[in-house]
Amino acid sequence: MVAKKSRIVIIGAGMAGITAANKLYTAAGSKDLFELVVVEGGERIGGRINTSEFGGDRIEMGATWIHGIGGSPVHKIAQEINALESAHPWECMDGSSDEPTTVAEGGLELEPDVVDPISSLFKNLMDYAQGKQVFDESPERECNGDFEYSKLGDEASRICASNDGVGKLSVGSFLRQGLDTYWVWKKNRDEQVSGYTNWSRKLLQEAIFAMHENIQRTYTSAGDLLTLDYNAESEYRMFPGEEITIAKGYLSIVQSLASVLPPGLIQLGKKVRKIQWQPDNRKNKGYESDTRPVKLHFSDGSVLLADHVIVTVSLGVLKASICQDSGMFNPPLPRFKTEAISRLGFGVVNKLFLQLGSIHAPPKFQDFSKFPFLQMVFHRADSELRNKKIPWWMRKTASLCPLYHDSSVLLSWFAGEEARALEALSDEEIINGVSQTVSSFLSQNSHSHELCNGNGNPEENSEVKFSKVLKSQWGSDPLFLGSYSYVAVGSSGEDLDSMAEPLPSDDSGSAASSSPPLQILFAGEATHRTHYSTTHGAYCSGLREANRLLQHYQLVGVQKNY
Ligand SMILES: Cc1cc2nc3c(=O)[nH]c(=O)nc-3n(C[C@H](O)[C@H](O)[C@H](O)COP(=O)(O)OP(=O)(O)OC[C@H]3O[C@@H](n4cnc5c(N)ncnc54)[C@H](O)[C@@H]3O)c2cc1C
Ligand SMILES: *[C@@H]1O[C@H](CO)[C@@H](O)[C@H](O)[C@H]1NC(C)=O
Ligand SMILES: *[C@@H]1O[C@H](CO)[C@@H](O)[C@H](O)[C@H]1NC(C)=O
Repeated sequence: MVAKKSRIVIIGAGMAGITAANKLYTAAGSKDLFELVVVEGGERIGGRINTSEFGGDRIEMGATWIHGIGGSPVHKIAQEINALESAHPWECMDGSSDEPTTVAEGGLELEPDVVDPISSLFKNLMDYAQGKQVFDESPERECNGDFEYSKLGDEASRICASNDGVGKLSVGSFLRQGLDTYWVWKKNRDEQVSGYTNWSRKLLQEAIFAMHENIQRTYTSAGDLLTLDYNAESEYRMFPGEEITIAKGYLSIVQSLASVLPPGLIQLGKKVRKIQWQPDNRKNKGYESDTRPVKLHFSDGSVLLADHVIVTVSLGVLKASICQDSGMFNPPLPRFKTEAISRLGFGVVNKLFLQLGSIHAPPKFQDFSKFPFLQMVFHRADSELRNKKIPWWMRKTASLCPLYHDSSVLLSWFAGEEARALEALSDEEIINGVSQTVSSFLSQNSHSHELCNGNGNPEENSEVKFSKVLKSQWGSDPLFLGSYSYVAVGSSGEDLDSMAEPLPSDDSGSAASSSPPLQILFAGEATHRTHYSTTHGAYCSGLREANRLLQHYQLVGVQKNY
């Protein structure tokens, strides 16, 4: 007699789910032991990998970069399937090597001698926070032999710790303490900078610093860096080497992993509404040992029994599911899980693509192929000096840059409240708001001092029009409810480990031992302690959970450390 196969259901066809399916399906001997199903709520695979098209160009609505090619499993697959080359141009194909043009609100281009010292200050502070070795690359180094950034970091974290109390230190407060310390060390005099109307040196430095903070917000998805935990920052790992984008599209990686699976194994349009499981056998009279312990209820009314379920839904979806009374899990998840889920951060990051229509600008910017990699340095939102025509949701946008060298499609990143607001705006509101902003930044773009007393030479005013826009909507899409996770103040790396813990949990005492093991497993970027928020983190978590099951069924000897 042939024993009944165990049924493994993977919830979610994103990077983690497809990787787990690939591993389980291809493992030697697994086909005799398992019946495998992937259920996906959406109508496509890929999840937060959403390669798309805009204005004739291939674009990424979600995951964009391979964060360091050295040792990245995503890079390895991309190489194997030859996805890193294309006859057509692709998003950020030139890397991020283009020199940015940094312009201050009001239209004055900032010289490197103003921008660079603050940029290296910021970079050194972040390196310090991330536990990297700090080298002083500041152009002022020669003139400031005594200025040591590592000491600055020590000083800033010491002051912060004493202000906030240990364990509550945020990256945001550390950074600001670093800037203040820098000013004290520089004995900064708050003088007017020649040529820069409306900007004192200190205001300008603070605004450049804020621009870098805004870039950091999009990297981490923490809408407010004061909510980003300082201590966890040094646990995050990056792969070495350059960061690149994928010529044939990020989706090609997921498609390649999915290509080994037989048709029908992935079921699209199957949204899980409820997961019934058996944490304690004795309390659950309904459970019979010859039926499968987990029962999935779908939005379409259908049900599916399973022996093991790998949950890969986003942290945002999990947060929503524990908030509602009729949560996704029945019985509800144990406390250590719900606490980790609520403490960890999950923010919104969105990308905006704009098709350039007409442009009337100073000669420098006339030509589409020369639209700059524009970095924008804004006045503070509460400043009287701000241009009131620029909408609030643009004020934390650090840059606007062509998709690739001579593309007429521009790309911007948004985070936090601004990213949420973007999702609710109409295309017309976005076009008007961005046009106002860009036109204002590209006007009067010179160092001509005559501009200071009036509104400038009318010929120098520019008008930039966009014909079409496309934005991602990660915050409002019910299948994601945000973009990626971060360690919030009050949380820690341990919460990421708790996220990965399968249920019933080992720790729940002897009661657990009477119920079937490994009923609910968790994968996804938010379950990886050192590579959370990334595609390779999701990939590794998928492998980890597949291997957990393979090991349970003794199909692999050792469980590797992911
Ligand atoms: C704008 C943006 C930019 C990014 N940039 C990068 C980058 O440059 N580099 C990088 O490495 N990473 C980046 N990321 C992060 C990366 O995309 C994610 O970390 C990774 O793709 C997450 O994969 P996952 O499998 O964990 O989750 P997901 O991709 O979210 O997969 C989960 C799947 O579950 C499905 N699902 C949800 N609820 C249900 C339900 N109830 N029933 C059934 N199915 C359900 C979802 O539809 C989804 O397909 C970015 C993300 C975003 C949003
Ligand atoms: C300086 O600020 C004032 C508002 O206080 C504004 O009217 C003026 O246009 C600004 N000048 C420049 C060059 O930005
Ligand atoms: C994924 O891309 C499509 C365009 O191809 C877009 O309509 C959809 O909104 C994107 N998903 C999210 C969550 O942004």
